[in-house]
Amino acid sequence: MTEPAVKYHLKKKEKHTGARLGTLETPHGTFPTPMFMPVGTQATVKAISPRELKEMGAGIILSNTYHLWLRPGEELVAEAGGLHHFMNWDQGILTDSGGFQVFSLAQMRDITEKGVHFKSHLDGRNLFLSPEKAIAVENALGADIIMSFDECPPFFESYDYIKKSVERTSRWAERGLKAHKHPDRQALFGIVQGGGHKDLRELSAKALVSLDFPGYSIGGLSVGESKAEMNHVLDFTTPLLPENKPRYLMGVGSPDALIDGVIRGVDMFDCVLPTRIARNGTCMTSHGRVVIKNAVYAHDFNPLDDNCDCYVCQNYTRAYLRHLFKAQETLGLRLASYHNLYFLLHLMKQIRQAIADDNLLDFREQFFEEYGYNKQ
Ligand code: GUN
Ligand code: ZN
Repeated sequence: MTEPAVKYHLKKKEKHTGARLGTLETPHGTFPTPMFMPVGTQATVKAISPRELKEMGAGIILSNTYHLWLRPGEELVAEAGGLHHFMNWDQGILTDSGGFQVFSLAQMRDITEKGVHFKSHLDGRNLFLSPEKAIAVENALGADIIMSFDECPPFFESYDYIKKSVERTSRWAERGLKAHKHPDRQALFGIVQGGGHKDLRELSAKALVSLDFPGYSIGGLSVGESKAEMNHVLDFTTPLLPENKPRYLMGVGSPDALIDGVIRGVDMFDCVLPTRIARNGTCMTSHGRVVIKNAVYAHDFNPLDDNCDCYVCQNYTRAYLRHLFKAQETLGLRLASYHNLYFLLHLMKQIRQAIADDNLLDFREQFFEEYGYNKQ
């Protein structure tokens, strides 16, 4: 038996919820969990340098197999010495398999047992991605954590379709595991699917757990269902997963969903939300969202968030940030992206402290009240 590429250490369970405090040791450093992973789809977290990511305490980022396979190609990244060298990031990297991106971005042709035929969203080329091909690309990219090739069906697909899809995704996971060349350097996670159905989530989790992956992702959520539905699925899905392995909820990053996911035993999250909304001038603050272009901020010389000690909030005013966005100056979206990522990484830090103090439910109550969730 080779040593696994990542080691999860469960440090503490919160007294009143399913929340867990832990660490994840990777070939590129150890980070505390629960953790939020900034998204760097194209081997860059948009508008933010690796130095800045480090400064704000990001210990791991996510990148995308699908995009890097299409451009610049995994051979070029391998020639650069792997993704870490290519993008000058020496902390953890996780790559998604391309499964989700094929279904959301590409023009589909058809899904077969072998894999998926589709057209590139860049130039319309006919392409084929299979579990083996996705793992080969992920092996060449060299991330610390890699994902199985899965199908993420729409949440409200028919029961029969989701059942067939779950069974195929389990077979794909097994094929990916066999094709994986570097289990000592890259931890391959299985992805639990099953839509909103308890028995299908059980079917999926059971099949994947029997394959003994070093970690488990929860997919097929935050795809149009309500927050209540997502939380309900998490309520019965996380208990199906082994306690001594990390759990990653894919594509989730709103503050309320992070807190509610942690409460249900999730350890890792990723989402484009903080950086995407930043680029159109929407900022997350301890008092809720601030749309910085709004006229009310024209003469507001206060920081973006009076409770934030990030570089942006320590040095710039709302009026200045608004001016940058109105004048379409790129510094505006850089500063907004920086603050939003800092805000979520800081939120995760507060969550970890609340787990340590066994007061996560009180923290949730206070945070929701202040953020304005309770008013909805
Ligand atoms: N990102 C968000 N959801 C999913 C999912 O279900 N599968 C994959 N591979 N990536 C995701
Ligand atoms: Zn800030």
